[in-house]
Amino acid sequence: MVGFHFKNNRWYSDGVALSKIAEKVGTPCYVYSLPAFEAKYKEVDQAYRPVPHLVAYSIKTNDNLSVIRALLKLGSGIDVVSGGELFKARKAGAPPDKIVFAGVGKSDDEIAYALKEGIRYFNVESIPEVEAINGVAQKMRKTAPIAVRFNPDVDPKTHHFITTGKKETKFGVYLGDVDKVMKVVRHCRSVHWTGVHAHVGSQMIQTASVGRAAKIVEKLVLQLRREGFPIHTINLGGGYGIDYHGENPPKPSQYARLVVPIIKRLNATLILEPGRYISGNSGVLLTRLLYVKQSGTKTFYIVDSGMGELIRPALYEAYHQIAPLEGPQKAVQKVDVVGPICESTDFFAKGRKLPLMKRGDLMVIFSAGAYGSVMGSTYNSRPLPPEMVVRGNKFSVARSRQTWQDLVRLEKIFD
Ligand code: LLP
Repeated sequence: MVGFHFKNNRWYSDGVALSKIAEKVGTPCYVYSLPAFEAKYKEVDQAYRPVPHLVAYSIKTNDNLSVIRALLKLGSGIDVVSGGELFKARKAGAPPDKIVFAGVGKSDDEIAYALKEGIRYFNVESIPEVEAINGVAQKMRKTAPIAVRFNPDVDPKTHHFITTGKKETKFGVYLGDVDKVMKVVRHCRSVHWTGVHAHVGSQMIQTASVGRAAKIVEKLVLQLRREGFPIHTINLGGGYGIDYHGENPPKPSQYARLVVPIIKRLNATLILEPGRYISGNSGVLLTRLLYVKQSGTKTFYIVDSGMGELIRPALYEAYHQIAPLEGPQKAVQKVDVVGPICESTDFFAKGRKLPLMKRGDLMVIFSAGAYGSVMGSTYNSRPLPPEMVVRGNKFSVARSRQTWQDLVRLEKIFD
């Protein structure tokens, strides 16, 4: 069985009992099921089979090299948002022509690096960025392929902190500025405008926003083509939601039903940048219960990981399912599950009904494969946890646990 499942009174990742991994490398630790990543990637890829397309996995969700490598082997492209991510993608073996580069604040150095590597194109997010890319490309005597990211002003109906497609956010070029963009691109001899990009938000649990954005993009592409720009790539970003807590999100094929006819009409190539859909439920975080603390009527489960490993509950009030790694799963008492960090936002769950547990018991925090480890920090000088990968009955260390030595490696004492 692929992914995470409960069998013989304990939680497994594929064929490996999670307790076995926790005992081997300790806690906290991330566990990724490579077959789960692959299955999710294939779902998206297959949904879009009727049109020429590239599924560019968004590595901002999980940039572990082993994960990237596994997806590359299936033919995946990669969506990067920084020079560092581009470096990691290349390190994992991504072919440059399958890499797209988004982000509102690319530095000249990052632009030059991407041009040197020969990426497929830049997702450009503002008019000054078109000019900056043009300048760098000119100096390097290269032509930079670009897709302009427009802000479609569509509400993705998700948490306001992960809404990107509304006009008040910093992302993409305001739709009313199309004429200005055309004017600037006409003057920029070292950029070649080939695509239009629109991403409306993350963790969407309905398809209508994507449908609306795709229609806006279609109109725009027709207008640009009339004006002489050879737009043949449509990038509709990512954002497909996952089940954290019974959301029942749409399947990729349901989005595809809205998008495919438009891509066919335009006779274009589609690029997608799904992240969370591929990685979210393909990873978990393992942690150990350090103390059961009774405080008046409240019960705290104090665990050995916290917002340094997984910041989503603190940042977005995100819900992550939590369960004992083995034994009875029946929830009987309300507890707060909190970490060891000196912050009151350092929690995984508040007032959550969980089974009775005791000091030393192991727990699994689900849906931690996306925006988990990548958003980690060493706040309170707590080393980053290891990342383990599982395939079948085998597991392996994909990133080692940081050491206290690592924490001081880049420092010099100024005396
Ligand atoms: N493409 C672009 C241009 C994006 O801005 C994003 C995400 C993606 C693709 C991938 O979106 P996905 O398929 O993963 O929804 N840290 C937040 C989510 C931030 C999303 C940022 N942009 C969280 O933990 O919920």
